[in-house]
Amino acid sequence: MSAATTVFTGIGELVTGDPATGDGSPLGLVRDAAIVVEDGRVAWVGPARSAPSADAGVDLAGSAVVPGFVDSHSHLLFAGDRGAEFAARMSGRPYTAGGIASTVAATRAADDVTLEANVRRLVAEMARGGTTTFETKSGYGLTVADEARALAVGRLLTTETTFLGAHVVPPEFAERRDAYIDLVCGPMLQACAPQARWVDVFCDRGAFDEDETRTVLAAGSGLGLLPRLHGNQLGPGPGVRVAVDVGAASVDHCTHLSDDDVAALAGSPTVATLLPGAEFSTRAPYPDARRLLYAGAHVALATDCNPGSSYTTSMAFCIAVAVREMRMTPAEALLAATAGGARALRRDDVGVLRPGAEADLAVLDAPSYVHLAYRPGVPLVRQTWRAGRRIA
Ligand code: NIG
Ligand code: FE
Repeated sequence: MSAATTVFTGIGELVTGDPATGDGSPLGLVRDAAIVVEDGRVAWVGPARSAPSADAGVDLAGSAVVPGFVDSHSHLLFAGDRGAEFAARMSGRPYTAGGIASTVAATRAADDVTLEANVRRLVAEMARGGTTTFETKSGYGLTVADEARALAVGRLLTTETTFLGAHVVPPEFAERRDAYIDLVCGPMLQACAPQARWVDVFCDRGAFDEDETRTVLAAGSGLGLLPRLHGNQLGPGPGVRVAVDVGAASVDHCTHLSDDDVAALAGSPTVATLLPGAEFSTRAPYPDARRLLYAGAHVALATDCNPGSSYTTSMAFCIAVAVREMRMTPAEALLAATAGGARALRRDDVGVLRPGAEADLAVLDAPSYVHLAYRPGVPLVRQTWRAGRRIA
C-alpha cells in the first residue's frame, strides 16, 4: 500500500524553480497551483484543476508559495553577541577580522547547554523565516575540543556542517601561525572530520593567505571533506582563484572581484555566494551581482548569520538587499536563495519543487514572490513546511 498523500491547494502563485514546469521561465511559475506530497517528497506539481486526488488536503487560501530557502552559509555555533561592536562600527570604526576573537572567547566560556540553546534559537528563527535547509560552520572554538564540540552540536540540526578551524589564528597562537596550521591540519581535523561534510578557510586580509589556505583545504580533502571558501570579502585577493582551482563548491562573499576573478567563476562550476547581510552590517560596498550574472557565473545568496559581520537569519532580507543594492531582479534573487543555495551545497533535492524533491515550502502572506523584495522588513512567511511537515 502506498504512503498517505497530501494535496496543497489554494496556491495563487507557485514558484517551482523548475524551468520545465509552468510558464517556461527559470522560475517555473504556475498560477492557481497544487502540490501533492507523499513521504515528505513532492509527488506531483501543476495547475490545481488537474491535481490528482489525495488522502488529505491543505488549503493555502490564495498565498504565493516558493521553495523553502536554502541558506548555504551561516555561523550559528557561537555564544555571546557583539552589539557594541556593531554600534561602534556604525559610528565610524572599520570592520576587521580581529573581532572574531571576542566571540571565540565567549564560545569557549559557554557550557554545552548554552551553546546548543543558542543554535536552536537561531534555527527556529530561520524556520520562521522560511529557511528549510541550512549550512553552518565551526570557527569560534579554535581548539580541538571546542571545534569538535561545535560541530557535534551542528550535526544535531543539519547534515551541512563545515569545519572552519581556519577562521582566524587564535590569540594564544599569535606568534606561532605555523603551529596553528599544523594543529588545524592534524589533530583538529582528525577530531572534526567525522562531524563535518565541508572544509572552509577564511582566505582574506587578517585571516589566512593562499599557501595556508591550500594547505588546510588539502588536509581536509584528504579526510574526505569537500572544499568551500571565504574569499575576497575584505579586499582583492587569491580566494576566488584558489576556490576555482581546487574545485570548491562555492566561494563566499566575493565583495572585491577582479575581471579575472569574474572570468574564472564564469567558466567554472564553483558558485559565487553573495552575502548582502555582511556588507549591510559592516557598511561595506556591495558587490555587483549583475557583473557575475552577465558573465554567466552561478550565484547564490545566503545570510552569513554570525554575531560579528551579519547577525540576521532572514533570507527575505537578503533577497530585498540583493535586489536593491546588488542589482538583481526579484526573480534572480529568489532563485539564488533557493536553487542557487542548493547548488552551492551540491544538492539537487532541495531548493526546487519538482517530483522527487523534498517537499520544502515557504508559504507567503502575499500574492507574489515579488513581495519578498517589494515589502522589505515585513515578515511575509506565514508557514514553513519541511519534508511535508509544518515546522513554523
Ligand atoms: O563570514 N568572514 C569570515 N567570517 C565571518 C565573520 C565572523 C565574525 O566577524 O565573527 C563572515 O563574515
Ligand atoms: Fe561567513
